[in-house]
Order: sequence, then structure tokens, then C-alpha cells
Amino acid sequence: MTNPYRAKITAIGGYVPPGVLTNHDLEKIVETNDQWILERTGIRERHIAAKDIATSDLALEAARVVLAARGLDPTDLHAIIVCTVTPDMLFPATACLVQDRLGAHGAWGFDLIAACSGFVYGLTTAAHLVSSGPPKKVLVIGADTMSRILDYTDRATCILFGDGAGAFLVETAEAGSEGLLDFVNEVDGSGGQFLKMPAGGSRMPASRETVDARQHFVHQEGQQVFKYAVRKMAEMSGILLERNGLRGEDVKLLIPHQANRRIIEATAKALDMPLDRVIINIDKFGNTTAATIPLATRDAVESGRLVKGDLVLFAAVGAGYTAGASLWRWQC
Ligand code: UT7
Repeated sequence: MTNPYRAKITAIGGYVPPGVLTNHDLEKIVETNDQWILERTGIRERHIAAKDIATSDLALEAARVVLAARGLDPTDLHAIIVCTVTPDMLFPATACLVQDRLGAHGAWGFDLIAACSGFVYGLTTAAHLVSSGPPKKVLVIGADTMSRILDYTDRATCILFGDGAGAFLVETAEAGSEGLLDFVNEVDGSGGQFLKMPAGGSRMPASRETVDARQHFVHQEGQQVFKYAVRKMAEMSGILLERNGLRGEDVKLLIPHQANRRIIEATAKALDMPLDRVIINIDKFGNTTAATIPLATRDAVESGRLVKGDLVLFAAVGAGYTAGASLWRWQC
């Protein structure tokens, strides 16, 4: 395969805050139990940021790991994309806060809101930025502090999510070398009603009523999202395999968004991929929204399951609905 997009991933990093909230801790907060959570989701624990920590703090830590791994100065960056649904505030963009605190003088950037598909969309966007014009370096960060928008009286949602950040450096690849091989992204806005945070925007600005009605939290119809996720994770991945003349067995690793272990297992089965070629780390982190894929990739690299030259497939589904997948030749 050649590299039609001239984009490669050259460094990765991740960060989770030290605080841990276990299933047993949650038993004391809502009517739930470790067995239910583990069987229905695969989650054992998740990391939760301290009260004075916001998304830009997590993003900054992940960014620093990436720069150190590549031996770069922050001023070497051309752009910073922060994928998040929990920005520090609506504006300025969290990318601006990260740029300033990182000291990435000369870089531009923006936030990308695509929920759990955010990181996959960020990778596609970065790949297109670096594919055009002179060589560039774009930092893609997936960072979310989901604990800030969870209703800890709603057992159906508060058990699912955790806080964290991960990042990839995407650089222009040399002509003829491989990196991004193919991608597919799509949205289906008709699913927006099933997973949302209703208030705080221009439709329903913050008011005493929106607070009292708990409208500033994640609202989810779990089964609707589950069915869509099972269908779309496999469909997006399947499109890429078919278009590139591949079968599941040709891909070294599937690194899926970590929303529910059952969704991941169903995806692997549909693609005919054994679970030993699928990264599942939802037990440790829960669903960290835009951070799941870089955090899972970090685990894959650290455990030696992903090495230079491997074919790797990322796939995600999220609120919107949003869905996407991308196929890469691993280069770092
Ligand atoms: O990242 C992208 C977005 N999110 C997702 O992909 C999440 C997709 N959805 C899911 O993962 C699953 O739908 C959930 C994990 C959210 C829920 O699992 P489920 O198997 O679909 O459960 P359910 O909503 O059908 O609920 C089954 C039962 C209900 O009780 P009854 O009505 O059968 O008596 C719930 O009230 O489980 C109950 N339940 C719980 N019980 C103990 C719901 N949450 C809990 C809980 N502990 N935390």
C-alpha cells in the first residue's frame, strides 16, 4: 500500500488523573453493584480528576508526554486540535489554553466536538492538514473530564464514564512511505436525541430551572446508543477492510473506542477478529470519551502489542450520532 494522505503518527502519550473511583465506591453513591457494572460494561474502575483540575490540565499533561517522546520543542508544533465535549469553558477554546500553557508559540488550533468519535475525527483532520503544503506537525489531543457533566444520582450513566487525556503527533510523511491509508467518517444527526447534554448552549441557556431539572448532565438512552454502536463500529471498520482488500485477520490490531466491552466484542466478532488482536482497557478507565483511543493505543504500545510496521484500525461511535474509522501503518 502507498500513503495517499502523506500523514504518519510519530509519537503518542496519555495522562489520567490519580484519583480512582471503583465500582465498589459507586455502590455507596447509587443503587448499583460491581457485578452488574462488570457484566454489563466491562468496567472495574475509572479515574476522576480532583476538583481544581479541568480538561486543559489533562490535555497539557498528555501533550507534554508526546513532545518529550519525540524530543520536540512546543514551538515546533504547527497546530493543536483538542477533541473534547468538556472544554474548560465554551470559549476560549481549550486548544488556545493548551497552546498558551505549553508555550507553542506560532501554532494555531481549535476544539473539535464529536464526542466519542472526536479522536478519530481529529486524526482525519490532522492528516489532511499535514498532507497539504510544506511539512507540518499537528498535535491531536483527546481529553475529557466527564465527571463534571455526570449526574451521580443516575446509575445508568454515572457508572460509565471516567476522566483522562491522550494525544498523537501527526506529521507529514515522506513521499512513498506509509501512514494513514484510509478513513471513513459519518454523522447521523437523527440520533442526537439519544445522547446529549441538553442545557448550557443557545437552545437552553443556563438558568435556575435548567439546573433544578438536571439538564446540565449527560442524558442517554443506553439501549438505543448500544444498538447503533454495535452496528456502526462494525460497518465503519468493514468498509475500510473491504475497500483495501483486507480481511480482519490482515489487521494486527483493532483499537476501538471503549464504551462497553460488549460493543467491542460484537465488533470483533463481526470483523472475524480474535480478541487477542483487540485492545480492551475499559476495565481500568471506563469511557473517557475522546481519550479512549489514545489511552488504549498507549497500552498497546507499552505492552508491545503494537510495533512499527503493524496495520492498525481505529474505530469509534459517539453522540451525534457520530461514527468513524481509520486505517494506519504504524510508524512509531
Ligand atoms: O460512548 C458512546 C456512547 N455510549 C455507549 O456506547 C453506551 C451504550 N449503551 C450501553 O452501554 C448500555 O446500554 C448500558 C451499559 C448503558 C446499559 O446496559 P443495558 O444492558 O442496555 O441495560 P438497560 O438500560 O437495558 O437496563 C437493564 C436493567 C434495568 O432494570 P430493569 O428495568 O430491567 O429492572 C436498569 O434499571 O439494569 C438496570 N440498571 C442498573 N442496575 C444496576 C441500569 N443501570 C444500572 C446500574 N446498576 N448501574
